[in-house]
Amino acid sequence: MPWKRLPFDGRNLSAALNIADLREVARRRVPGFVFEYVEGGAEEEATLRGNREAFAALRFAPPTLIDTEGRSLRTELLGATSNAPIAIAPTGLNGMLHPDGDIGLARAAAAFGIPYTLSTLSTTLLEDVASQAGGRLWMQLYVMKNRAIAEDIMRRAAASGFEALLFTTDANVFGSREWDRRNYLRPGRPRPRAILDTLRHPSWLTRVLLRKGVPRFRNLEAFLPPGAASAVGGSTIIPQMFAPTITWDDIAWIRQRWPRKLLIKGVLTVSDARRAADLGCDGIVLTNHGGRQLDYCLAPIEVLGEIAAAVGHRMTVLIDSGFRRGTDIAKALALGANAAMLGRAALYGLAAGGEAGVRRAIEMLALELDRVLGQLCCRSVADLGPALLRRQPPPNP
Ligand SMILES: Cc1cc2nc3c(=O)[nH]c(=O)nc-3n(C[C@H](O)[C@H](O)[C@H](O)COP(=O)(O)O)c2cc1C
Repeated sequence: MPWKRLPFDGRNLSAALNIADLREVARRRVPGFVFEYVEGGAEEEATLRGNREAFAALRFAPPTLIDTEGRSLRTELLGATSNAPIAIAPTGLNGMLHPDGDIGLARAAAAFGIPYTLSTLSTTLLEDVASQAGGRLWMQLYVMKNRAIAEDIMRRAAASGFEALLFTTDANVFGSREWDRRNYLRPGRPRPRAILDTLRHPSWLTRVLLRKGVPRFRNLEAFLPPGAASAVGGSTIIPQMFAPTITWDDIAWIRQRWPRKLLIKGVLTVSDARRAADLGCDGIVLTNHGGRQLDYCLAPIEVLGEIAAAVGHRMTVLIDSGFRRGTDIAKALALGANAAMLGRAALYGLAAGGEAGVRRAIEMLALELDRVLGQLCCRSVADLGPALLRRQPPPNP
């Protein structure tokens, strides 16, 4: 019998070697409808696939024979030190994945010394995250049709010590994640197949639903009709709350209410990046929302170089969408990003093993990045530059 490679069996968290392995553990631990909520992209998922394809098209051209002993991942992000050029991206409904939820994610980030971003749609009150997690906290803001929600979030986040606000602009209209939708007869009403599958995950059922109750959009509770604040009830009403009316004029409106660092999450063009800088924003996040919003959207890594060249000297440039490997982060830093944000990579960790799983995810990526840094003959993240990269031409059709 020829020797066969041994693939990861998807069961044992401690045997997981990379984010893809963590994803496999996560896939087994949570019901299918929960995994699909995390995993899926909009419509044909062309944006989702494109995020990974764009990384594959970038190859390294490494120098050699340079001493890199004692190299460091430490960097400055928004005026404070971060132990790695990594931050956790905002994701809603984290309490559905594991009872540790937002606090588990925030604590893992704090333990490693990187920032955590809490979503407006979190299942933990922002005040509780601030008091129970510590570390560097950023707040993500959706400006919804009812503007009082945004005012309330900004006031409370400022009072709780959040150091930055990330205003998400690419969800003015809610994306259609069709694979996710197929798990429901109608919003909030899972199909019998999904319910049956949930019963096959008794540990999740006990720890997430029975012990803690159906997770709720805790930051919005005061603004939602009774029953609508739960993950189940909210799935009908929340998508309708997104505001197609948000514009650049809202930056001034936010600035009047938010006294600290402000970043725009949703920029993908040089002109918008310049506009954000001209309006006094402290940074931007290049993103396509992990492929969950506009389908057939380009990958942020494809435009990072030109945007960083245009505004990198004036503001912090962050990027997310598709980051699963240390090489991905190294490519982004080489093209001018200050840091990469983790969406699903951190959520796989959370679903696979709560706070410890997230810590694992962060450590894996930091270790991978450190290894790439060494192999690229760099001593620090500042040594990474565009000369290290070549873009491969797409294959002939
Ligand atoms: C399950 C899930 C929930 C998300 N919720 C939010 C959110 O509430 N606010 C937001 O600005 N972005 C949200 N995002 C987008 C992430 O912040 C980030 O842009 C995206 O996940 C990056 O892509 P990646 O998952 O491939 O890393 C969400 C993403 C996922 C996967």
